[in-house]
Amino acid sequence: MTAVADRPIVAVVLAAGKGTRMRSQRPKVLHEAGGRPLLSWVLEAARSAGCTRTVVVVGHGADEVEARCAAPDVGFVLQAEQLGTGHALAQAESALPAEALLLVLSGDVPLVTPATLHALRAAAGAGGAAMAVAELDEPGSLGRVLATPEGSLERIVEAADASREELAVRRVNAGLYALPAPEVFEQLRRLAPDNAQGELYLTDAVTAMAGERPVALVPLDDAVEALGVNTRQELAVAHRLLLGRTLEALMAAGVTLLDPRRTVVDPQVEVGSDSVLHGDVTLRGATTLGEGCVLHQGAWLEDCRLGAGVVVEPYSVLQGARVGDGCRVGPFARLRPGAELATGARVGNFVEVKNSRLGAGSKANHLAYVGDAEVGDGANIGAGAVTCNYDGERKHRTEIGAGAFVGSDTMLVAPVRVGEGATTGAGSVITRDVPAGDLAVGRARQRNIAGWSRERRERRERSRRSDDSED
Ligand code: UD1
Ligand code: MG
Repeated sequence: MTAVADRPIVAVVLAAGKGTRMRSQRPKVLHEAGGRPLLSWVLEAARSAGCTRTVVVVGHGADEVEARCAAPDVGFVLQAEQLGTGHALAQAESALPAEALLLVLSGDVPLVTPATLHALRAAAGAGGAAMAVAELDEPGSLGRVLATPEGSLERIVEAADASREELAVRRVNAGLYALPAPEVFEQLRRLAPDNAQGELYLTDAVTAMAGERPVALVPLDDAVEALGVNTRQELAVAHRLLLGRTLEALMAAGVTLLDPRRTVVDPQVEVGSDSVLHGDVTLRGATTLGEGCVLHQGAWLEDCRLGAGVVVEPYSVLQGARVGDGCRVGPFARLRPGAELATGARVGNFVEVKNSRLGAGSKANHLAYVGDAEVGDGANIGAGAVTCNYDGERKHRTEIGAGAFVGSDTMLVAPVRVGEGATTGAGSVITRDVPAGDLAVGRARQRNIAGWSRERRERRERSRRSDDSED
């Protein structure tokens, strides 16, 4: 048989459990912390540690888990009935090479780092098997790890099965192992559910393995890596810690966070150096920011691309938008999917932009709706202007040429075109194209009624009423 150190490395993630204590319809490993599902963090750690293949054991909510976490380097095996962690790992055997070093991870232990996986691999390379342990002040429901005088594994005892003395042990099983296959599968076949939970424990197989070869104990650099998420409380703690890692990385890369406790950033977000994020800023999904951006309080961005030097004023919501260098957005602005702002454009108070391109230096500063429109460079869209893009059945486009001036409260009934440098009078309803350079006024002409005043009208009303009462 090949030496363990020379066998291919495959990660196996146990993720079939129901997670009863979450009190949820959703599979436990799909609950999100720090901006992604718990399981995705584990898969990402395996990837970063150089695992080219990962097998996930799914069961509870299998279809949902597979759909959410599918990737070319990830395979799934089904554990139809959840009979314990040992039974779960046994299901993976058919999907694995005959000889391998397995990095066995738990789908609910999301803080595991690539460094720990490297350490497990290295430790297993020597003796053949290794597991991660942590010293905790409050070991709670985690399995307790008893060591031999030489410092390798003697026995793992689940909290539910532990004696009073064993419960006092502070060294816990983090649920992360490097185990040789096929040897571990031989141990799994011998398991019996003779314990408090009536389950087939992986921990019993690891204990049995320690009778044949030393199982190295790898202490975690940071005990938080051992945090397993079994309750909503633990989910909240994991969320804080994972988010904290993302924010630390941003600060290390030269981003100022004025109130990190109130900033939420998803892990794949990229922020250019010298950008400043005020408190209550949320950056989600595939968002990227260039250098020197300033995001004020209450900016909420999802899947957006911002250039350099963009300022987002307070309480603006941007989704699926592209914003060029030096643009200003907000306060209280809304950019919806397909909004594209060229260099230096300005979208101000209570303006909504959807599926529209605003040219360089163009402005829509107050109370406007710009939907399905192409706005030329330097155009100005007045307060209250609306592109009426929807006729109840279909959407139509509006074109506004470079340097055009759309007067306040203009209704542009699409499809319609306002030519370059053209102007529309305030309050106009524009239904026909406006040639370049022209002024279009589309509203009722004002009529002044000479000598009409409210006082005179009221006097007339009063005298009419007194005439009526004399009848
Ligand atoms: C397990 C360990 C415990 C360790 C802890 C670390 C065992 C018996 N105990 O306990 O020593 O301290 O993890 O977090 O292994 N799962 C399946 N199929 C099953 C049961 C579980 O896939 O039939 C999966 C779960 O989805 C979960 C992982 O295995 O991702 C761990 O299972 P869980 O029930 O959370 O075990 P713990 O009680 O946390
Ligand atoms: Mg657990």
